[in-house]
Amino acid sequence: MKFLPAAVKLKTAEEKELEKDILTLADLEATDIDLLLDRARQLKQRHKKGIMDWPLTGKTIGLIFEKASTRTRISFQAAAAQLGGTSLFISAADTQLARNEPIEDTARVLERYLDALVLRTYSQKMQEDFARVCSIPVINALTDLYHPCQVLSDLLTVLEYKGRCQGLKVAWIGDGNNMAHSWINAAAVLRFELTLACPEGYMPDPGVVNQAKARAGGDIRVINDPAEAAEGADVINTDVWASMGQEDEAEARQAVFASFQVNAGLMARAKDDAIVMHCLPAHKGEEITEDVFEGPQSVVWDQAENKLHMHKSLLEALINRAAGV
Ligand code: CP
Ligand code: NVA
Repeated sequence: MKFLPAAVKLKTAEEKELEKDILTLADLEATDIDLLLDRARQLKQRHKKGIMDWPLTGKTIGLIFEKASTRTRISFQAAAAQLGGTSLFISAADTQLARNEPIEDTARVLERYLDALVLRTYSQKMQEDFARVCSIPVINALTDLYHPCQVLSDLLTVLEYKGRCQGLKVAWIGDGNNMAHSWINAAAVLRFELTLACPEGYMPDPGVVNQAKARAGGDIRVINDPAEAAEGADVINTDVWASMGQEDEAEARQAVFASFQVNAGLMARAKDDAIVMHCLPAHKGEEITEDVFEGPQSVVWDQAENKLHMHKSLLEALINRAAGV
């Protein structure tokens, strides 16, 4: 059996350890993200060579999801298995949470069984409540407000294609949603240029934008013109027009967002070697045309794959940190 030679212990420049939880990228330092990215790249290379690592032997990771998931759920479960751990998937509806058992009580029970908890919830506050009570790491696998693990995985994809994040011109086209918020957080931490083009009424949360601007300065802009955002961009990013929980608004949103489609015309404004990103699932013909989605600039399948490698890096770092390794 082969164990990893040395556990990764994340520290910031000030020698502050990585936070216990990953609830939002706003809690991270650039050095944290760099270390997570480096380790994800290393784990990816080792996986491709067929080298097996089992740093999570004997560890149990619980996943409680209130919303649907294909990629996040399965990549976390595969990550846990491939690192020698065990994962338990629990639909929130099947727990006593659905019958109003308090989070405080649930959390104090789960920390006695589990080594980490991966949560997909509507509310960000629910994750904060779990994190406050639980001694084990809590990992945000998407809320209405943020999707931090997706953007960490996406940064790995950006790094693979562009060799760096700093200095890049990144465009977000569409809804000012949970993904947009986590990109805003990432831009503030890593200091790349981010321009978001969103329709009036669907802009990102001003609190998230202002907090990021206070940290990063003037490199984060929110505008209403997709063409301007795409101009000279290295990375074009989009997402569904109606997120999970907004199904009732889907039809109304189609009209509002019609001019916010990522299509060949918009791509022509970006750099010739720009990449197009989408966290998936995609609604082809709505936020992105089929030709762009399937075209040579699309990196969506690498994004999906990189969730596996980044989730390994995250689980290892947080569980090792919690164990004092
Ligand atoms: N990108 C993403 O989070 O996909 P799932 O909803 O399938 O997990
Ligand atoms: N914004 C989307 C992301 C899905 C991964 C949603 O919340 O549904």
